[in-house]
Amino acid sequence: MRVLVVGSGGREHALVEAIRRSPRASRLYAAPGNGGTRAHAEPVAIAPGDAEGLAAFAERHAIDITVVGPEAPLSLGIADRFRSRQLGVIGPTAELARIEGSKAFTKRLCSDLGLPTAAYTACATAEEAYGVLETSAFPTVVKADGLAAGKGVVVAETPGQARQAVADFMERRTLGDAGSSVVIEECLKGEEASFHVFADGTDFQPMVASQDHKRRFEGDTGPNTGGMGAYSDDGILSSEIRRGVIEGLIRPTLDAVGAYTGILYAGLMLTREGPKLLEYNVRFGDPETQVILPRLETDLLEIFAAMVDHRLSEVELAWKPLASASIVLVADTYPGKVETGRKISGLEAAARMDGVTVYHAGTRWEDGHVYTNGGRVLNVTAVGDGLADALEKAYAAADAIAFEGKACRRDIGQKGLRRQ
Ligand SMILES: Nc1ncnc2c1ncn2[C@@H]1O[C@H](COP(=O)(O)OP(=O)(O)O)[C@@H](O)[C@H]1O
Ligand SMILES: [Mg+2]
Repeated sequence: MRVLVVGSGGREHALVEAIRRSPRASRLYAAPGNGGTRAHAEPVAIAPGDAEGLAAFAERHAIDITVVGPEAPLSLGIADRFRSRQLGVIGPTAELARIEGSKAFTKRLCSDLGLPTAAYTACATAEEAYGVLETSAFPTVVKADGLAAGKGVVVAETPGQARQAVADFMERRTLGDAGSSVVIEECLKGEEASFHVFADGTDFQPMVASQDHKRRFEGDTGPNTGGMGAYSDDGILSSEIRRGVIEGLIRPTLDAVGAYTGILYAGLMLTREGPKLLEYNVRFGDPETQVILPRLETDLLEIFAAMVDHRLSEVELAWKPLASASIVLVADTYPGKVETGRKISGLEAAARMDGVTVYHAGTRWEDGHVYTNGGRVLNVTAVGDGLADALEKAYAAADAIAFEGKACRRDIGQKGLRRQ
């Protein structure tokens, strides 16, 4: 099978790495890929946003399956365009991608179906939003309705902060049209978890749970980032809670939206009253993918092929009884402005270590060397017998890699260890 992966981050490198392990994979392409994907996937210089260009490429190169990493192309209808040309694609239609692309749409769906989520009000004007804040309890959460690349949510401790968020999103339009309407919702307390499923339009199959670390600094402090690390083990969700999420959230959602083909990812808050939905995403999480796929025993390409043919229920999914952890190495000034082009050393030594895979996120390959090419640089990942073992291996490998200004959080997975 000929496969195209769309995107350029650590998630896409993990997808490429998992797909090339399949005996069914013949040619593999990444558009545009990064300094790590090039070892197994030919780089294609077409931007993820150029749906027409990608579809034409897929047709010309007889691509059997295209896997779309990021959300923006899905919201713009890349999957519709591929399907209308009879090209296999992993991702929902633009209409169904609204489940990620509009927070208000999903909150309404939750109220209609009675799904567990934070109480909310959708506001189409700034006056409305200021009015809601008059009677809100604090902290409260202000969310831009549209896609905002992780910058559209403010957990406001005070009315002043909340009003500032409304002014920024709705009046100053700091996020463009994404902030032209907002959702104001109740602040939930608890630990967060990520829950992904494969869906083929009729059936779905759950993946193992994982937990991300969004804040830049230890102890979940500092600004939000694209993710500083993740882990996956079977302690994140008890089997009872897992069943509750599947039957009480995922199944009713997929039943309601109709033929959804792709990845559905629920961001959960594990509250004292049970798990509640923070948001849905219509693609794999980053960096969650980097800890989920190393635990997948089943051939990923076989799963994707079954999804495209709507026969996912025929595939028996198996997971390794291991834990996994991924440490994100960033440039020290991230998520602020970063210097790029720093030469990276130690990659081969790290990759040779037991259980370790180094996924590239923001890197560039040039003349036999790998250079930094973004704020989040590498996802140093390891599997182990239990979380402590996985973390120890991942940190040992992370410490074997060097580049000027390298930084990471040292407390990835601590919540998981404490749970044990
Ligand atoms: N209702 C809420 N209560 C408490 N924290 C929240 C709530 N909604 C969102 N958050 C926090 O904000 C983060 C981002 O919100 P989310 O809805 O996942 O939006 P996005 O991923 O699109 O930025 C969450 O991971 C969580 O930490
Ligand atoms: Mg989120």
